Amino acid sequence: MGQDGRVKDKYRVVVIGMGKRGMHHATAFQANGRFEIAGICDIDQARLDDAGAKLGVTLKGTDAAQVARAAKPDVFCFCTLPNIRSSMVRIGIESGAKLIAMEKPIALTTAEGFEVRDLIAKGGVKAVVSHQHRYGAHYKKVGELIASGALGRVQTVYGTATGWMMHMISHLVDYARWYNGDAEAEWVIAQAAGRGKLTDIHPSPDYIAGFIHFANGVHGVIECGAGAPDVPEVDYWWRKCRVGAQGTDGFAEVLTGGGWRAVTKDGACSGGGSMNYDLDMPPYIQQMADWLDDDRKLHACNFPSAYKGFEIMMAFCRSAAQGGQVALPLTGAADEIDLLRRAVPDRKVLLAIPGSAKEYPT
Ligand SMILES: NC(=O)c1ccc[n+]([C@@H]2O[C@H](COP(=O)([O-])OP(=O)(O)OC[C@H]3O[C@@H](n4cnc5c(N)ncnc54)[C@H](O)[C@@H]3O)[C@@H](O)[C@H]2O)c1
Repeated sequence: MGQDGRVKDKYRVVVIGMGKRGMHHATAFQANGRFEIAGICDIDQARLDDAGAKLGVTLKGTDAAQVARAAKPDVFCFCTLPNIRSSMVRIGIESGAKLIAMEKPIALTTAEGFEVRDLIAKGGVKAVVSHQHRYGAHYKKVGELIASGALGRVQTVYGTATGWMMHMISHLVDYARWYNGDAEAEWVIAQAAGRGKLTDIHPSPDYIAGFIHFANGVHGVIECGAGAPDVPEVDYWWRKCRVGAQGTDGFAEVLTGGGWRAVTKDGACSGGGSMNYDLDMPPYIQQMADWLDDDRKLHACNFPSAYKGFEIMMAFCRSAAQGGQVALPLTGAADEIDLLRRAVPDRKVLLAIPGSAKEYPT
């Protein structure tokens, strides 16, 4: 809605960070009749000029705060690498935007994640986090099967990915929470191995695995990185992800790059589908317009829900670094990556599949 309380025809958007994901977002906003790109920003001038030419946007600059002030956006979208989060949220709020659209992960530490959470709450803005695999037909099919009761009583939800934690785990946890009806998580316990990716721009142990205990009694089992199992049906390494649920009467699971399958009392069934930005971004963007138009139309990737997944990731890190169970919600800000750097043993991670050797070398 606009300041006068009326639904706006078009919402003004600024996009910060014109890399891979920034271009995906900008293109999808532009293709949706409810949005116009009011300004773009990147610290890389050549990339900025290229994006400006492709999108036909003239208000552009290398300073996010300046661009946002000039553009007066309704939506402040940033797609920078994960080392930049709270500073962008602050700029977004100061720009007067009503919705902040950010990339995952929410932050690299609870020190910053708590700040992001508090800024958004105090700023009174809506916010969404891009876990857009949710919109894939195969992801939705599994969600519908589970919600229909076809699996009986769900006992376990699970997610695996060969990619490393800061890239992949927030996706896994987000979808596992969804498949468990968004039940509250009460505690986690986890282990981590391999120091190679602790210095990556998406800093992570090479392998992290953990259990989540949810208030409804369901347990979540998550594996992310070098030790995660193969998804042999999927060739593309980044899409070797399997997320699903097991119940008293069967199971249903999605393969990010390879469709879905289920076995229920009625027998076995399966179908196609593969993660596709061109298909997943439009509904993600449309739901922003819907939520801006009407407070009751909560976005499926709303920040408060994604934040619960962020805390589960950070609780895994605390458990892996300090041992034992970690209760949720988390208290006391920490630098979980630093905790891991101090604690993860200096031993080569053991691989589950040879195809992971290129990313986790000796
Ligand atoms: N949701 C998904 O499926 C998905 C997929 C890939 C990446 N991601 C996430 O998206 C984010 C961006 O990833 P990417 O692959 O697009 O990275 P990228 O490197 O392609 O793009 C990042 C851009 O941000 C710019 N930038 C950095 N600091 C800036 C600043 N202060 N102001 C303005 N611009 C700045 C860089 O110059 C670069 O152009 C990451 O957090 C990543 O984890 C999400």
